[in-house]
Amino acid sequence: MSENRIFIFDFDSTFIQIEALEELAAIALKDHPHRQAIINQMKDITNQGVEGGISFAESLQKRIKLFHANRGHLDTLVRRLRRKISVSITRNKAFFLDNTDRIYIVSGGFHEFIDPIVKPYGISRDHIYANTFKFDEYDNIIGYDENNILAQEDGKVALLKSLRLNGDIYVIGDGYTDYQMREAGLANRFYAFTENIRRNGVIEKADHVTPSFDEFLYENKLPMSISYPKNRIEVLLLENVHSEGIRLLQNEGFNVDYIKSSLDEDELAERISNVWILGLRSKTQVTNKVLAKAERLLAIGAFCIGTDQVDLNECARRGIAVFNAPFSNTRSVVELAIGEIIMLMRGVFAKSMNMHQGVWEKSAQHNFEIRGKKLGIVGYGNIGSQLSVLAEALGMEVHFYDIVEKLSLGNARKCRSLRELLRKVDVVTLHVDGNRANTNLFGEKEFRLMKDGSIFLNLSRGFIVDSAALLKYIQKGKILGAAVDVFQREPKSNDEPFVSELQGLPNVILTPHIGGSTEEAQHNIADFVARKMIDYVNSGDTLNSVNFPNLQLPTLRNAHRLIHIHENKPGMLAQINSILAEREINIVGQYLKTNETIGYVITDIAKKYDQGVIDDLKKIPGTIRLRILY
Ligand code: NAI
Repeated sequence: MSENRIFIFDFDSTFIQIEALEELAAIALKDHPHRQAIINQMKDITNQGVEGGISFAESLQKRIKLFHANRGHLDTLVRRLRRKISVSITRNKAFFLDNTDRIYIVSGGFHEFIDPIVKPYGISRDHIYANTFKFDEYDNIIGYDENNILAQEDGKVALLKSLRLNGDIYVIGDGYTDYQMREAGLANRFYAFTENIRRNGVIEKADHVTPSFDEFLYENKLPMSISYPKNRIEVLLLENVHSEGIRLLQNEGFNVDYIKSSLDEDELAERISNVWILGLRSKTQVTNKVLAKAERLLAIGAFCIGTDQVDLNECARRGIAVFNAPFSNTRSVVELAIGEIIMLMRGVFAKSMNMHQGVWEKSAQHNFEIRGKKLGIVGYGNIGSQLSVLAEALGMEVHFYDIVEKLSLGNARKCRSLRELLRKVDVVTLHVDGNRANTNLFGEKEFRLMKDGSIFLNLSRGFIVDSAALLKYIQKGKILGAAVDVFQREPKSNDEPFVSELQGLPNVILTPHIGGSTEEAQHNIADFVARKMIDYVNSGDTLNSVNFPNLQLPTLRNAHRLIHIHENKPGMLAQINSILAEREINIVGQYLKTNETIGYVITDIAKKYDQGVIDDLKKIPGTIRLRILY
């Protein structure tokens, strides 16, 4: 299948993720007081060697002298290296097993650790060229075979010359000595492998840079274990997405670009054509104009809660799945609410302000424990229900009201109407969603219904409360204290001033929409959204998508997955299945879900299929997009 091509692999930082000698030193120097300093010294020498600064022979000699190891350390090393094989090499093990006679390892490393690591990949000793250690009678490493061709200057070049291999020679490695085989005219192509380390001096010399072994296989039209090299999947992250999101997407092998600010419509429309995955927060508007240019876009990740900034319907119509993080900051909002309830019940903020002005006013009047008090939660969704659990744990009696039927958690009591709730409770806290139908949900009438001396919290959305009415009832003394985190008019940036009728009231806690703003929440959001997008790309899983039918899919094993996204109209499934039946393709599993706009059909089929099936499926009228995974 690979005709007369011969593949020569480097071992350290290519076949495996790390430099094995450094790892051996780390093992041997386990309790040494200067362990890290010695390893760092080794790293420097390694880098000088692989980047061509000093000769390889010199580098090897210097490194070996830095530590004392023995056979026991080598056993530990081999165990560790088994878990450190490069991810894309592991993924494509089948390629190695299918091409054993064409694959060679040529390394400045040592047989003692290379042989056991590459053996499961079908590479036998006669295809491994490497150094060997010398041991004393107590199994201590005392040096290495200096006569080995690979221990000498330009060893790889000399070795390859002596091998007289017959065929087109492709070298894959991360180091300068790998490139030297190409420089010497002994190899047809040199591929700089950058999955584990990027060495600029080597990259410059390469015929092709291959960030993963998938890319190498794809570039050379060789069979691979995944449908498409991940490094060709371009991700654009805007608005300073948390570094955890960047890390996860990079680790997955995607080509990630990130920008601190948002882009305006024209800038984004210009930039979007090559982007497969777009990450943003609340400021970037994804409009029809942008989407019209988004030829490759598979998914959008909103690294926040709201998705009003994205034209969700248009995305669905174009087969672009949108994800957000609906409950990654739930806990942060809940903790703030609990803290504020306690602060308000004790009048802490007013007392603190007095103290700053030199006033000492010790009194228990109007100071209460929260234990035994009735908490009324309006909106028993993610936040409301989590607050219910925590408040109850602190001894509050929880009542809630929601417009849809909700399971009450713990001993929380359901109220049939808002009115019933308001008349009963000591603390009212709003956690309804931000849909516009909730504008002024809370006004004159609702405040009037509340008990005298109540506490009021709004950490949901500003437009839900008529703030003039709130002010009135605070001034009347009916509301003993309030905490407000969200406002009808919120400054767009920290540079704009904040204005509200609630300013200057000592018993009102004002916070700048920070209910969900914690380090933990930002981290959780990045983690959640990045993983959603990775799952969608890898398996088609749409669980929690805000505009796609939600399907949680089993992991794909030994099958191809056809993902067919189409306009929601009758008969699509029948048409897909009749195409497969005509070609006698066996369906291993099939999943279908629709929403108002689109249908999402996943069909797992037995391994073999021909291009004709794909073409036919694409031709079904109403098809929006077809993806194939394997
Ligand atoms: P969610 O969607 O999980 O829950 C909202 C609940 O409110 C749902 O159960 C819904 O049925 C109910 N609801 C809607 N309208 C209602 C009404 N008129 N009366 C009674 N119940 C009603 O939302 P989640 O995640 O719990 O968020 C709640 C609110 O908190 C949202 O408005 C969100 O924007 C806001 N939020 C504020 C943050 C902040 O930094 N202050 C951070 C995160 C969310």
